[in-house]
Amino acid sequence: MSNNRYPLPQPKGWFFAAYSEDLEVGQSRPLTYFGEDMVIFRTESGEVKILEAYCPHMGAHLGYGIHEHVGKGGEVQGETIVCPFHGWRFNGEGVCEEVPYAKNMPPKVKDQQCLKSWPVQEKNQIIWFWYHPDSAAPEYDVIEIPETAADHPEWGTAVKYHQRIRTHVQDMAENGADPAHFQYVHGTMDVPVPEDAVFEGHRRSAVLPSKMPTPRGVIDGCIEFQNNGPGQSWVKFTGICDTLQQACVTPIDDEYVDVNFFFLQKRGESGEVPKGGVNEAICQNIIQQLREDTPIWEHKKYWNSPLLCDGDGPISKFRKWYSQFYEGFTEEKQAEYTQRFLREAS
Ligand code: FES
Ligand SMILES: [Fe+2]
Repeated sequence: MSNNRYPLPQPKGWFFAAYSEDLEVGQSRPLTYFGEDMVIFRTESGEVKILEAYCPHMGAHLGYGIHEHVGKGGEVQGETIVCPFHGWRFNGEGVCEEVPYAKNMPPKVKDQQCLKSWPVQEKNQIIWFWYHPDSAAPEYDVIEIPETAADHPEWGTAVKYHQRIRTHVQDMAENGADPAHFQYVHGTMDVPVPEDAVFEGHRRSAVLPSKMPTPRGVIDGCIEFQNNGPGQSWVKFTGICDTLQQACVTPIDDEYVDVNFFFLQKRGESGEVPKGGVNEAICQNIIQQLREDTPIWEHKKYWNSPLLCDGDGPISKFRKWYSQFYEGFTEEKQAEYTQRFLREAS
């Protein structure tokens, strides 16, 4: 824990790594999430692999190529990635398949996993990886959202948005369980009352009716939140112009998160999502809300026991649900974190 604002570890789950379209066959590039330097690459058969970045031989980073790969990642050969320093080749499970200039493979290398690898799933035009602090196997799958199919006849990509924010992934997610802030931070006209908040295993959903101010007057809208673990969440906005947002937040380290918004809307007659007008306004409004929340998140602290009132909505329920993603975060551990947090904060 390198910051004194969050007495929290990082949650286990599926998290956004990259957009599918940003990684072609044979491409690789560096990635840093959960404080780990990684390399992501797409093999000849089209599979995506994520490995720890530093070669076990002499420590070169596999995500920075040489020669014609300068500015890109290491060279991908078939189902393997080649270390740029001395040409050792690793498969997607982190096993070294070849040391091209050695007569015998070192026994510590032969048939051994010598680079950590992360489980990957590619769904909804996004590459996801499974984070677990002890590298344990995935406990469930990424949920497929039919509207996000790249060739969907009705739905197409509207807008993508990226921002890096100095906060913790749980605190951002808590926003959806905090109806009162909508009025004060985002200027919505009333305090929306959440309906049908469902907490079930690693899934959660809630519906927020909301009044949306538009140039044509106030329109009754509806916002439906869905979570599949801490890293996969999507929101459906209905009312003005149906919009589906994949809202992906991935911890970079203990200080920062990467936010990737992926908006989908219905295609117009041309087959493309119409540009401008209400379509664009809706996405811009959601991005604006993120920007409005940002100064709060970047400077606030996380209280384990906040002073809540009866209008605060399902915050306590949300936290209880979220705590399942902290592997081995027992009450003693939590007390220890809080002690350290209070010491560092004073
Ligand atoms: S450092 Fe990777 S092959 Fe030598
Ligand atoms: Fe917000």
